Amino acid sequence: MTARTHVIDHPLVQHKLTLLREKHTSTASFRAILRETALLLCYEVTRDLPLAPVAIETPLQAMQAPRLAGRKLCFVSILRAGTGLLDGMLDLVPSARVGHIGLYRDPETLDAVEYYFKVPSHLEQRLVIVVDPMLATGHSASAAVTRLKDAGAGDIRFLCLLAAPEGIETFHTTHPDVPVYTAAIDDGLNEKAYIVPGLGDAGDRMFGTK
Ligand code: URA
Repeated sequence: MTARTHVIDHPLVQHKLTLLREKHTSTASFRAILRETALLLCYEVTRDLPLAPVAIETPLQAMQAPRLAGRKLCFVSILRAGTGLLDGMLDLVPSARVGHIGLYRDPETLDAVEYYFKVPSHLEQRLVIVVDPMLATGHSASAAVTRLKDAGAGDIRFLCLLAAPEGIETFHTTHPDVPVYTAAIDDGLNEKAYIVPGLGDAGDRMFGTK
């Protein structure tokens, strides 16, 4: 099965993405805008969740009203930058379970190296949405999803803010069954594997570590 790449072109998302790209945006503003953007991205990535009618009573009469009916949601953040998306997603779906995967990029090989893995139980019964703001080489995203599949996850979506064509290609070659949701697909990667034009290092921008 080949999964699609969904570009979320909602005007509010695009406007906020521009603010995030702007190099003069402060750390505090970056974090706040990323949180707002994540909420909107979460709205789109959950757009097709199944509903089922449930009997309720309004103050006026009884009715059948739609309620979420599918798998329980689990958000998995790829550390550390995934945290910046996670907060906004939890604003929208506070009941979601949360997992964390710690991966760093080997500066020589650019391969993903795992240093932390903690996820909720029964992943096979959940819709798992993996979040990382930047899909650059695709190595971290691919490694994270491989690890989640090994842990039992079968219904997975990948959500990012920005993607490079190379990252999408690598990710979909490894995981053709996992759809990617992104606010934009940029031109490509530079020699240091940063997305261009991009927004710089997402972790540094949100935590002020540069
Ligand atoms: N990670 C980032 O934070 N930024 C990039 O451009 C690529 C990877």
